[in-house]
Amino acid sequence: MDFFKERSDPGPDSWEKLKRDCAGCGRCGLGQTRHNLVFGVGNERADVMFIGEGPGEQEDLKGEPFVGPAGQLLDTMLELIDLDRTKVYIANIVKCRPPRNRDPLPDEQASCIGWLERQIALVDPKILVFLGRIAAMAFIKPDFRITREHGQWFDVDGRRAMAMYHPSALLRDPGKRPETFVDLKTLQREIKELYD
Ligand code: URA
Repeated sequence: MDFFKERSDPGPDSWEKLKRDCAGCGRCGLGQTRHNLVFGVGNERADVMFIGEGPGEQEDLKGEPFVGPAGQLLDTMLELIDLDRTKVYIANIVKCRPPRNRDPLPDEQASCIGWLERQIALVDPKILVFLGRIAAMAFIKPDFRITREHGQWFDVDGRRAMAMYHPSALLRDPGKRPETFVDLKTLQREIKELYD
């Protein structure tokens, strides 16, 4: 019995192992149409982790999350509360670009989310910030309403979690920016409390 237990135990996870496993992923069809896998970027021991939906065109070409116009806005949002990419970790629900930037399908999300769960376990952040409805629905609750529930705190597996509008939504509708500024300040206060 112990013999089988020993053989089936995958052992402790590591970034090296996770990156290698993820690079060889063929769990859904998105891997066939993308240029690059977009794994994640930032501080692998960050207290705050930002989670988006999935790579767009620029991210697909570069292999890095949030490097297109939405990414530039995300960088500005981070700067507003004294954060930058060296202080946080950034990843997406799906690691490969959905064609024509469509929403990732439920089965594509289900196939991919295990990679993100392993990233979260390795980073072990105190705070999770979901960017947009799709990411919030995947982790906070399936009926999450971004218009009503952005900026509120939830518990996700013992971590503080909140969602804010996706930077792409803020590019499409700048009228949502003042609410997002309030959410960023809420996040900043929470981060400050971690160190007090
Ligand atoms: N939108 C996302 O959700 N993620 C990215 O990496 C880029 C745009």
